[in-house]
Amino acid sequence: MTIENRVYTLPLTEIEQTAFCDTEDALPAQSLSEEMKINVRWQTIPPEYLHMSPEELDVKIADVRQKLGDKVTVLGHHYQREEIIKYADFQGDSFLLSKEAADLPNVEYIVFCGVHFMAETACILAEDSQTIILPNITAGCSMADMAPMEDVDDAWNDIKAIIPGDNSIVPLTYMNSIAGIKALCGRNGGAVCTSSNAKKVMSWALEKGERVLFLPDQHLGRNTASDLGIPLDEMILWNPFKTLGGNTEEQIINSKVILWRGHCSVHTRFTKQQIATARERFPKVNVVVHPECPKETVEAADMNGSTEFIKKMINESEPGSIWAVGTEISLVNRLAKENPDKTVFCLDPVSCPCSTMYRIHPAYLLWVLDSIDSGNIVNRITVPAEIKQSANIALRRMLELA
Ligand code: 13P
Ligand code: SF4
Repeated sequence: MTIENRVYTLPLTEIEQTAFCDTEDALPAQSLSEEMKINVRWQTIPPEYLHMSPEELDVKIADVRQKLGDKVTVLGHHYQREEIIKYADFQGDSFLLSKEAADLPNVEYIVFCGVHFMAETACILAEDSQTIILPNITAGCSMADMAPMEDVDDAWNDIKAIIPGDNSIVPLTYMNSIAGIKALCGRNGGAVCTSSNAKKVMSWALEKGERVLFLPDQHLGRNTASDLGIPLDEMILWNPFKTLGGNTEEQIINSKVILWRGHCSVHTRFTKQQIATARERFPKVNVVVHPECPKETVEAADMNGSTEFIKKMINESEPGSIWAVGTEISLVNRLAKENPDKTVFCLDPVSCPCSTMYRIHPAYLLWVLDSIDSGNIVNRITVPAEIKQSANIALRRMLELA
């Protein structure tokens, strides 16, 4: 069904995205009640957790972790704040964390310190007997929210009506998407990718089919397709608020890559002007950015890659080297701290953490760990069986390719 006259609406997570932006370099850790003064949606939590100081929370988390032992594994994405990442048994980019989740069949509880789609992915890859927990249920992702299931189903049906046939189009989704989209990809011969394997997955898809539908990040899709030598005039943008995504039938037929109109508000802040300023200040600077940045930013940088790639490049660089980084501030600050013999700074002069990643406050981590200890589990992430099965196919295809 084609969508006519839709009113353009922004996901709430997108509106909330700049809530924690600050001109100070580092955000000080505060009690949850203090942080709740920031106007975003917070999950309700028992009052006893609200006023604990960061130090108190730290002691209590360490205690309950020790008590729970091997029953629990804590996974932490690189964008998590310091007070959380220190408790991660394993930290990584989205790809490594999904691999880790798939490799932990004997762990009873996986506490995923990241955002909703990551915990959902862990749930899809885990055994049914395992419990996946997201400490704060409001930790979503504005990019994932830009591709709701109904819109994607509509788009898929519209596209298939114009270009029927088994190999006419292969759907690919970035990990940063809801489980239902991963399932659509699994059912229709497609796959999932992350920023660390997008090139490999997209070239596989283009060998398999005539074109690709890439969801939901237009920038990662465009950067990856460009890297594979696909010219911009063979890429079209699918705007879910317009009939046929704002395209003609002919444009769809002539396209090689159809890019969903989604983006990450954290990474679209990085510009080529910021890179020019960094180069003026430090002529020997190395500029590394995440491929969720716009194409002109990626092209102006010296290199681009996933959070794990960025971490590796900086950690393994020569002492004295200078790094301007275009990714989320918690990771940039950590890299600066871990590399005191190098100069590491964020391209953006304003500190703008991902507002959903940042909502994993230590009080929530303590709360969910206490819930495991008491046997009254909170924030369990589940995926309906039929979605889980098809999404698993798309994820396993990625894991086999990467
Ligand atoms: P990676 O860790 O896979 O690079 O992804 C970055 C990101 O935006 C996660 O939300
Ligand atoms: Fe989503 Fe961007 Fe935050 Fe990653 S950094 S979770 S893509 S909003």
